[in-house]
Order: sequence, then structure tokens, then C-alpha cells
Amino acid sequence: MTTAIKLIDLKKKFGDTFITKGVNLNIPAGKMTIILGRSGEGKSVLLKQIIGLLKPTSGSIIVDGVDLTTLNDYELDQQFAKFGYVFQFAALLDSLTVFENIGITLLESGINRDVVLPLVKEKLNMVNLSLDTLNKYPSELSGGMRKRVGLARTLITNPKIILYDEPTTGLDPITSRVIHELMYSMQNKLQVTSLMITHDVESFQYADHIALLHEGVIKYFGDAKTIWESDNPYIYQFIRGLAQGPIQTDSTYFKK
Ligand SMILES: Nc1ncnc2c1ncn2[C@@H]1O[C@H](COP(=O)(O)OP(=O)(O)OP(=O)(O)O)[C@@H](O)[C@H]1O
Ligand SMILES: [Mg+2]
Repeated sequence: MTTAIKLIDLKKKFGDTFITKGVNLNIPAGKMTIILGRSGEGKSVLLKQIIGLLKPTSGSIIVDGVDLTTLNDYELDQQFAKFGYVFQFAALLDSLTVFENIGITLLESGINRDVVLPLVKEKLNMVNLSLDTLNKYPSELSGGMRKRVGLARTLITNPKIILYDEPTTGLDPITSRVIHELMYSMQNKLQVTSLMITHDVESFQYADHIALLHEGVIKYFGDAKTIWESDNPYIYQFIRGLAQGPIQTDSTYFKK
């Protein structure tokens, strides 16, 4: 199994508080890995460090043999061309059309609209949206459509690694299934490395591996297919939503 992203003793603090407390994780290449964890555990913070939106306090992020934490801004930009990021809330720009939202990276780099248009159409097709959405604005779309536009925008640069932050949160079960199947088929078609944060147990069947983040470290990493058989006390409690177990569930948790 080839590793696409290797996280070594990764730490991140805000003020005096460490959110990421020493994450060690090998993310397999060409596979879908899920990161689970309670709300506020630092899942988005972890993803943002991998993509370079947040600078780690210490530790290493190795991609293709290069430690991203040692690079200057120019070198980082080159590396980050490999990544695609699907934001937690689609994060579309309301004043731009679907065409402009999807093509924004290319349009901003000065590529002509006529050149960008067929590329946007191709991605729109990949996410099963019809061409008549091109000139619509995000406010005219449903939540599921917005997620798909967000996905198409991420795909426009043909990333080798895609990071998804809760791609199905807030969607009804049927739309959620459609998005899952879309991500899964792209995963198989494009052989990308996918890393997905989710609270959705339905996601497990589409994943290869599952990791659990708790108290700033990875408490579990294993095969997605056998997750329900695991007796690791953290994952056992978490996926069943149990009150009893090593993960604290009383009200003091929220006062941290
Ligand atoms: N830029 C920042 N500055 C200071 N604190 C931050 C910053 N970003 C996140 N945090 C804090 O880090 C902690 C983890 O946040 P994060 O958004 O990673 O949680 P999460 O696991 O993604 O939760 P959720 O499932 O609700 O999205 C929170 O306490 C948050 O307030
Ligand atoms: Mg989050």
C-alpha cells in the first residue's frame, strides 16, 4: 500500500491551546479514507493544515516525499496544485454564476472564458448537473446542487488528492446517497486519493479506511469494511453513539 500523505507528530495550537496534539497517520494513495471525530475535535483544523490554509505549529506533512512544512510560499503553491478541497459549507461565491464559481481558479489565472467553458461543462457533466445551471446563481440552487457545484469547482484543476469536509452534512438521505455515489465513482474513475471528514455512517460503505480523531490524536485507524467488528473501545463507542466508553460524553466536554 503506497502512502499519499504521511502526517508525523503533527501539532497545532491556537493561543495556548493545542487542538492537534501529535497526529500520526499514513493516508493510502488512490483510496478513500474517512476521518471521524466529535464536533470541535479539530477535524477541519487538521484538513486545513494538510491543504496549507493553516500552518502547523510542529511536525511534518509528507506528500510525494516532500515535507510541506519546510517549503517556502512559492514551493508550497506548486505542491498545492495537487490538492482539491471541498469546503464544509460548499462556500460558493453568491455574486458569481455557477460557471464562474466552477471556473474561478482558471479564470483568475487569466485563462480565457472560451477556453474555460468546455472544461466547466465537462466537470458539470461529471457531477450530473445539467448545462442550464451554468448561468444560475448559488441562491437559485438547492443544497445538494450547491454541494455538486463545489465538487465540480474542486475537480476543475484535476487534483491528485481531494479533501472533503462534511460533503453530505445537511442533505436528505437520498441526495446524500447521490453525492456518495458520485464521490465513489470519481474515486474509482480518477484513482485520486480522497480524505473525507464525515459524521454520516452511510459513508463507511464507500470508504477503504477509517480514522478516528479524539483529543487531538488518532485513536483508531482501520479497514472500513470491518469497522463494525472492531473492538477498539474508541471506535466501538463512537460509531454506535454510546454514552459509556473512553470518550467523555457528559456536559463537562462542552466546557473545555
Ligand atoms: N482559526 C482559528 N483560531 C482559533 N481557534 C480555532 C481556529 N480554527 C478552529 N479553532 C478551534 O479549533 C477547534 C476545532 O475546530 P474544528 O473546526 O477543526 O472542529 P471540527 O472537528 O471540524 O468540528 P465540526 O465537526 O463541528 O466541524 C475549535 O475549538 C475551534 O474553535
Ligand atoms: Mg469541521
